Amino acid sequence: MAIEQTFSIIKPDAVARNLIGTINARLEAAGFQIVAMKLIQMSRSDAENFYGEHQGKPFFGPLVEYMTSGPIVVQVLQAENAVLKYREILGATNPENAAAGTIRHDLAESMSRNSAHGSDSLSSAAREIGCFFEQSEIFSK
Ligand code: PPS
Repeated sequence: MAIEQTFSIIKPDAVARNLIGTINARLEAAGFQIVAMKLIQMSRSDAENFYGEHQGKPFFGPLVEYMTSGPIVVQVLQAENAVLKYREILGATNPENAAAGTIRHDLAESMSRNSAHGSDSLSSAAREIGCFFEQSEIFSK
């Protein structure tokens, strides 16, 4: 299987509840290497650009409000089959539908305050990583 990179966000609800370490421990235990990471606060234009594919959907405005409401952690995760592997340990978007043992089942508060984001494809991962990281900030061997 190929070594891939995927993009991750630890969202404002998880940062506010001091869950950065808990989530990072789960990522490392699952075999991910964290090859880039920053604590930042997204601007409105960052969020509108990042979530651009959802423009026009009813949740777009609240999603942008929420994702700009406080600090977040942006990360690049590396592993074999990283995109799918991270989506699996994240669990379904709505924590009520997420499998037991997944990050969202165990930690998320609601559909919108769902603790973490993971890219849904390799092409999304490349685009999303480029929204927040220069190549020189990614420490992959
Ligand atoms: S879609 O329409 O199926 O492609 O959308 P989905 O992948 O389920 O969700 C895309 C992101 O929007 C967030 N989301 C919401 N935020 C606030 N309120 C509601 N109702 C809502 N529904 C979806 C969802 O958490 C996704 O965020 P990311 O950061 O991609 O996980």
